[in-house]
Amino acid sequence: PQDPSFSQAVIDWQRAHGRHTLPWQNTRDPYRVWLSEIMLQQTQVAAVLGYYARFLERFPSVHDLAGAPIEDVMAHWSGLGYYTRARNLHACAVRVVNEYGGEFPVAPSLLADLPGIGRSTAAAITAFAHGTRAAILDGNVKRVFARVFGVEGYPGEKRIEDALWRRADALLPEDGMESYTQGLMDLGATLCTRSRPACPRCPLQARCVAYATGRTEELPVRKPK
Ligand code: ADE
Ligand code: SF4
Repeated sequence: PQDPSFSQAVIDWQRAHGRHTLPWQNTRDPYRVWLSEIMLQQTQVAAVLGYYARFLERFPSVHDLAGAPIEDVMAHWSGLGYYTRARNLHACAVRVVNEYGGEFPVAPSLLADLPGIGRSTAAAITAFAHGTRAAILDGNVKRVFARVFGVEGYPGEKRIEDALWRRADALLPEDGMESYTQGLMDLGATLCTRSRPACPRCPLQARCVAYATGRTEELPVRKPK
């Protein structure tokens, strides 16, 4: 990696202060990991917990989900919002059963070809299920990187986003992908929040451009009007 001390700081923080007892963290079952990542795409942990448990009770395997009527899937998603996720979830389960014999593919590029799974979600699934070195870059991680590296430019813009992906790739650790990936997510969700980030408790503070220059309120750059 380009700077092993970056990933080490995230990993050490995650092991000491990150979340360890979420129901999808103590499994490597790709089905359970995938379901959690889809539910968590636009929804906070607290809202997902109950849905996740009820969903797994009703659809314990990808075969159960693929074989269920879409109406039943929608009923179990009802209240979580962003309902395209539920339609894609069912379509994805059908494809995993029909094209992969019920086993989720291991390669992130194959995962990212399935409905509802983008590049970042594919990387998160393989990191958690298999320890694969693949970079995530969701909204929270974009915010952390934009601040730490003092990225000028709106992260929704292609050129800026491409640069963030290159950084994310270059920073991957050799080992400890589960802790690193979860650590980036937890940092973004719990410390490096959109407003009033908890910089005094942040493991990246010593290297954070936004903190050093007093610009945590200005970074990441907002969408241009
Ligand atoms: N957001 C997206 N994936 C997550 C995960 N695995 N744990 C907590 N929050 C998340
Ligand atoms: Fe975010 Fe503050 Fe940490 Fe910088 S020091 S990464 S702004 S929490």
